[in-house]
Amino acid sequence: MTTLIGLDVGTSGVKGIALSGDGDVLAVAEEPYPLSTPHPGWSEQEPEDWWRAAQAVLARLPEGPVGLSGQMHGLVVLDEAERVLRPAILWNDQRTGAECAEIEERVGLERLIELTGNRALTGFTAPKLLWLRRHEPDTYARIRHVLLPKDYVRLRLTGDQAIDAADASGTLLFDVAHRRWSDEVCAALEVPLEWLPPAFESTEVAGAGDQAAAALGVGIAAPGPVSVVLGTSGVVFAALPSYEPDALARVHTFCHAVPGTWHAMGVMLSAAGSAAWLQRALAAPYAELDAEAERWEPGCEGLSFAPYLAGERTPYPDPDARGAFTGLSVRHDRGALWRAMLEGVAFGLRDSLELLRELGVRPEVGRVSGGGARSELWLRIVASALGLPLERTEVEEGSAFGAALLAGVRAGVFADAREAVDRCVRARSVVEPVWDYDDAYARFRTLYPTLKEIS
Ligand code: XUL
Repeated sequence: MTTLIGLDVGTSGVKGIALSGDGDVLAVAEEPYPLSTPHPGWSEQEPEDWWRAAQAVLARLPEGPVGLSGQMHGLVVLDEAERVLRPAILWNDQRTGAECAEIEERVGLERLIELTGNRALTGFTAPKLLWLRRHEPDTYARIRHVLLPKDYVRLRLTGDQAIDAADASGTLLFDVAHRRWSDEVCAALEVPLEWLPPAFESTEVAGAGDQAAAALGVGIAAPGPVSVVLGTSGVVFAALPSYEPDALARVHTFCHAVPGTWHAMGVMLSAAGSAAWLQRALAAPYAELDAEAERWEPGCEGLSFAPYLAGERTPYPDPDARGAFTGLSVRHDRGALWRAMLEGVAFGLRDSLELLRELGVRPEVGRVSGGGARSELWLRIVASALGLPLERTEVEEGSAFGAALLAGVRAGVFADAREAVDRCVRARSVVEPVWDYDDAYARFRTLYPTLKEIS
């Protein structure tokens, strides 16, 4: 029986998984790499680090067809000889505020939303290209190829340049309704179409942006449950019956990894990212912090946390947003800080869910994945904040798992993505909502506007 490999080129490292054709996990491996912040608000990585980590992970897994998933939106620029020209600029980089305004001006906001399903957001790829054109013209002049992070790993692995419709959707250069590069947007932004790799469906090329892959990895191939991801970023993702972007683009509308289908999602920039930051600051093991947080009542006696450590995307597309603790008292200890952080991130996810509900999404259950989903306490808090039971699947590394399923479709092990999901994705347990968070959420809603006023 064929062994299927999934590689997720994430923000903190490469995660790999080897599966049987029935979805049983045969092996996992993980290799971290650093992230650099050369200026406030910047976020960069070396593509060579991804490749080194991918090789190390593959060396620890059995052989088999490889599917790829990865952090979306990151800009990798290559010269004529496919050499990397500068460090990659990542999805959570915030330097491109001026370029976003320029794009909305050049294309026209309404037309941009019609074509790409989105407005210009600092994390997306196109604004990064315009930033390079303005600030690093010598580098820009040498660009011949543009790739996204996981597709750079594909290039090194196979020698091929390619992208899937799901990840291409996050470039802002893609005609999301017609699932092809947009001549109109590229022309308006003066970005040569020949720099862009050929675009395929995820199942044809065995790859997807990490959110579409994660959704597939937890079994979301069609409208129904939502995918809730507690990765560095936090995501609430719903498969859509057709291409229907939010008129105001408050959530993203992208192609899904299932051919001919779409999805909408809200993305917060610091979910498990907030946890990683606070864990470093408090210098204690995660399990100890969770245990101390358990001792606090929901709402933490008025202590709130604004999770905008790296700016924000949904529901506040604001690169200058910043985090805060408010309502501190002498009674608050380390466990209270930790619990307030877990709750603040959960409320950020609730903001995204509310926007999806406005689009008519009516989920009855969420499916969770990402590193944060390992915390039982966090899942109880998120389930309560969203008012949704959360199902854990047997495999929590949704993106790498989804990538392996895509490898299986491409290799002919499964007839299509739906069969892959039916055969391989199994729910393991359910975490029910237990606490009433209405008051604490209402308090949270006042944080961003208030912080904005004093910043
Ligand atoms: C999605 C997004 C993030 C990254 C994280 O739009 O920017 O979720 O994909 O890996």
